[in-house]
Amino acid sequence: MEMPDALFLILFPILGLILIFSFSYKTLKPKTTPPSDPASYPLIGSILSFKKNRHRLLQWYTDLLRLSPAQTITVNLLFGRRTIITANPENVEHILKTNFCNFPKGKPFTELLGDLLGGGIFNSDGELWSSQRKLASHEFTMRSLREFTFEILREEVQNRLIPVLSSAVDVGGTVDLQEVLKRFAFDVVCKVSLGWDPDCLDLTRPVPDLVKAFDVAAEISARRATEPIYAVWKLKRLLNIGSERRLREAIMTVHESVSEIIRAKKKSLDIGGDVSDKQDLLSRFLASGHGEESVRDSVISFIMAGRDTTSAAMTWLFWLLCQNNDVEKKILEEVKGIGSLGLGFEDLREMSYTKACLCEAMRLYPPVAWDSKHAANDDVLPDGTLVRKGDKVTYFPYGMGRMEKVWGQDWEEFKPNRWFDEEPNYGTKPVLKSVSSFKFPVFQAGPRVCIGKEMAFTQMKYVVGSVLSRFEIVPVRNNRPVFVPLLTAYMAGGLNVKIKRREQM
Ligand code: HEM
Repeated sequence: MEMPDALFLILFPILGLILIFSFSYKTLKPKTTPPSDPASYPLIGSILSFKKNRHRLLQWYTDLLRLSPAQTITVNLLFGRRTIITANPENVEHILKTNFCNFPKGKPFTELLGDLLGGGIFNSDGELWSSQRKLASHEFTMRSLREFTFEILREEVQNRLIPVLSSAVDVGGTVDLQEVLKRFAFDVVCKVSLGWDPDCLDLTRPVPDLVKAFDVAAEISARRATEPIYAVWKLKRLLNIGSERRLREAIMTVHESVSEIIRAKKKSLDIGGDVSDKQDLLSRFLASGHGEESVRDSVISFIMAGRDTTSAAMTWLFWLLCQNNDVEKKILEEVKGIGSLGLGFEDLREMSYTKACLCEAMRLYPPVAWDSKHAANDDVLPDGTLVRKGDKVTYFPYGMGRMEKVWGQDWEEFKPNRWFDEEPNYGTKPVLKSVSSFKFPVFQAGPRVCIGKEMAFTQMKYVVGSVLSRFEIVPVRNNRPVFVPLLTAYMAGGLNVKIKRREQM
């Protein structure tokens, strides 16, 4: 017998007892809930609806939120556990800023990623988080880090990304653009964070073990969150079986590989090394006197946060541009006006139309579809929703991008012009309007706003401008791709495209 089957046999009778108890207890009468909330029964809460919709949670939550006058719903889970999901900007501001201290990530969240990320910035609260945040924020505002990052970006685009796409043109085959962009982003984030080059864009070589291990570890850790009963993954971890065994092996590879890089870096710093070796985050964290394990956790958090997010956003934008040629033309106009043959760091600031396109793509397809906190104490959200200590409180960028109340009747349209007060005209430099980060919390907002936001826009504008000015991208299939929300969302099956050289700019 397979071990997961054995686990099922242990849990099945327990679940059965709970169900029988709960059905006979109140003879299947649901508790009174607002019409927008899913039906909830004593003890088992909404677990039946949750299980039924588990494969389409995004759509289920979005539909329920549209029915809710306050754009907030409460899903009752087993044993009185509750998840509050909100798409209401005022609530989001309350959770992420006004009453920030009452909404830490909390143990239930940090446990999910704790084996992989330890106490790294992405996975910690309180003092542990704030000391790392201070150090990282300081480094991220340093001009030297921005220049170092841009140099890495320039090299990676000119010497790797463009040659890879050029050879796809020469061969005339198809490429999975999502995979190419993922490998590109992994190279960039490793060079910035570790000062180490995994060289993933060499498609002739197998993907390095560290990259594979990161993929496995991120996916299995994220899937823990979709288990309706957390005891399932905890028991599997205790018994070291199934997916939890694969997770343990992957985490071991990640930790060992990163520790090896840290030891090599320490050695090179001790003997003086090359100055360019000292620009990366790892060197900066080591120089600030942090211990090896805490530096390891910090840099793993950065790699985790920065690796698939930009590639996901760019993949969806490239797909959307294939459906909206007029928008693509306007990006080309913008790039042409700035300097198509070599975009410089300062030029990127002027690419406001391209930035609007990226924001619009992320409004519809946010790289982080949802994000949760856990209430430290009872509270009341601005829309009147009662929060109990321990409740999971989720703000939901994917649903928010689809709310008529937030974005108007045309929310479904890909319309970069909505990011400007006035329609941008050719010849004039369009100015982006200011949009509340609580209405568009794609990078989160408040004290924990994404630390890599500016770095991400720099990267995405540079890639989009450099690629579109040289190549035409034609998707192989015309069907609407499926958005899969794991820790970072991705396009199911990738974005398979044919690449053509662009005739003239
Ligand atoms: C389009 C690209 C990106 C998006 C949409 C994005 C989005 C987010 C979101 C939603 C969070 C909050 C997650 C949470 O607290 O659970 C976050 C945090 C974070 N991001 Fe990003 N991110 C992007 C790119 C990057 C890049 C390129 C880096 C750096 C290399 C980065 C570094 C971080 C870090 C370190 C945090 C943790 C901040 C903290 O907890 O104080 N991100 N990001």
